[in-house]
Amino acid sequence: MTLPHPELGAAWRAARPRPAGVHLDSAACSRQSTKVLDAVAHHARHEAEVGGYLAEESAEMLLQQGRSVLAGLVGMAAADVSFTESASSSVRILLDAWRLPAGARVAVLPGEYHGNLAGLTHEGLEPQVLAADDLGRVDVDALARLLRSTPPAAVHLTAVASHRGVVQPWVEVSRLCRATGVPLVVDVAQALGQVDCDIPADAVYGTSRKWMAGPRGVGFLVTRPAFRAGLTPVQGDPADALSYETHDAHVAGRVGLTLAVGEHLAAGPVAVRERLAGIGRAVRERLAGVPGWQVVEPVDEPTAATTLTGPDVVTAHARLRAEHGILTTLCLPARAPGELSAPVLRVSPHLDVTDAELDVLAPALAAG
Ligand SMILES: Cc1ncc(COP(=O)(O)O)c(C=O)c1O
Repeated sequence: MTLPHPELGAAWRAARPRPAGVHLDSAACSRQSTKVLDAVAHHARHEAEVGGYLAEESAEMLLQQGRSVLAGLVGMAAADVSFTESASSSVRILLDAWRLPAGARVAVLPGEYHGNLAGLTHEGLEPQVLAADDLGRVDVDALARLLRSTPPAAVHLTAVASHRGVVQPWVEVSRLCRATGVPLVVDVAQALGQVDCDIPADAVYGTSRKWMAGPRGVGFLVTRPAFRAGLTPVQGDPADALSYETHDAHVAGRVGLTLAVGEHLAAGPVAVRERLAGIGRAVRERLAGVPGWQVVEPVDEPTAATTLTGPDVVTAHARLRAEHGILTTLCLPARAPGELSAPVLRVSPHLDVTDAELDVLAPALAAG
């Protein structure tokens, strides 16, 4: 079959160093473009030439553009963006500044990411597990009843999970939260770049290195002004998004993220999403018949991340890499302790994957 928008795949591939093997691991960490790599290196060199603080000053306009594009992707403004170090650091900064009372309930999905759960419990909060279907998609009617009867202090929604390429009904959740006044926090670590994230929420956070294909060690937290004004940062004005950033930072990485979001915008977010959805479908169609293996996601789920259960996931993951040069992710149950009872193999190509690369996957998996 032909994947949609082949020109995007070719451009994405041509823009990056040649992969050493078959990279089907973008949900873990994507391959950066040569322009992004050069921009990061250039900023680091500039720091050595003029001094770190002057270099940062000279990058300020560029970073402002990065904030603006990033904010636009999640329906907020440049002034709402705080650069952080990762998705996990974002949620910790947010929860620390929020100061919800100990024991306050925060609604989460059954398949909530372990690090987010740890962040909640570390703050003395009580994760309240929402009703969901067999795929882990939240039961919107049950959520509506909960929000009206015994509203939690907040809803925390991971729009696309780490261990499953299923999109949550964020639009409906957003509507319900707004109607009932319950704050909504959304983890877009796996969603941004793959699905439309321009949906109202009070806080949205994620990371650079996954579907945005930016550098590692950079994340973001975007907060709506009225919500942010009620937070208590360690230092500074709560209303100022910069108060939630660390004073010293990997500025070169932020420059790289700015380039990466610019590349995403130039490629066309809608076309990118269409191609990624087509890739997800192509992967699932090819893997559906491999003896002993089951694809978890519905074939037409609009994401490029596919997970599989199978006979010996740990060995298969290692064998794919060692014998076939195919990089995938091994997701152990600890990643989503409320939902995963056995390991799953995650296959997550980015835009540049070719039909030929996908063709080797099923036989390689079957060969075990
Ligand atoms: C859905 C989700 N949330 C949060 C994280 C944590 O991201 P980070 O490693 O940037 O802290 C991940 C990482 O895989 C993730 O997939």
